[in-house]
Amino acid sequence: MSERFTRAGTKSDAARIAEIYNEGIEDRVATFETEPRTAEQILVWFAEGYPIFVSGENQNIQAYAIAFPYRTRPCYDGVREFSVYVAREGRSQGHGRAALGALIDEARARGWWKLLSRIFPENLASRKLCEALGFREVGTYEKHGRLDGKWMDTVIVEKLLI
Ligand SMILES: CC(C)(COP(=O)(O)OP(=O)(O)OC[C@H]1O[C@@H](n2cnc3c(N)ncnc32)[C@H](O)[C@@H]1OP(=O)(O)O)[C@@H](O)C(=O)NCCC(=O)NCCS
Repeated sequence: MSERFTRAGTKSDAARIAEIYNEGIEDRVATFETEPRTAEQILVWFAEGYPIFVSGENQNIQAYAIAFPYRTRPCYDGVREFSVYVAREGRSQGHGRAALGALIDEARARGWWKLLSRIFPENLASRKLCEALGFREVGTYEKHGRLDGKWMDTVIVEKLLI
């Protein structure tokens, strides 16, 4: 019988998190990043104390969600920018929802008041996930950056936690 889990990530998950992120980078659907990450780079996230949640099945991590600081100015202390990535083989099975849902609960528990992110308009899976978890689409940044030489817009999403 398969067993699903969602839990806080630990340093020993860093290599798997890097693998999952690198699939997302390779797929060119989710981020302007084009350089793969190493486990050592992921360990920095843990050292900084950013909340990270993982979700998976049968001890195999399929997804992670993380919240980064949004800006350094103190007035934005309660605003965090999230990222969520699911391994190719684990997509559309509820792992993204589970990991991001746990991150939302943690953000609220820490007293933060807003989670936000930017999504490529073409990334319908991500927009649908955010909609399902109560995010609002604020608007669209036009030509927000170039990916492989092509201008990309981004849709801003936010969720108030208070
Ligand atoms: C976007 C992503 C995080 C979604 O996570 P997921 O685990 O695949 O999604 P879930 O199975 O948890 O589904 C969540 C909701 O999104 C919907 N959804 C998932 N995949 C979808 C797809 N391909 N098209 C349309 N809707 C989709 C589901 O129907 C579900 O909605 P519901 O609860 O109302 O039925 C995941 O597909 C992914 O990692 N993609 C590549 C990286 C990426 O785009 N990251 C986001 C960066 S902004």
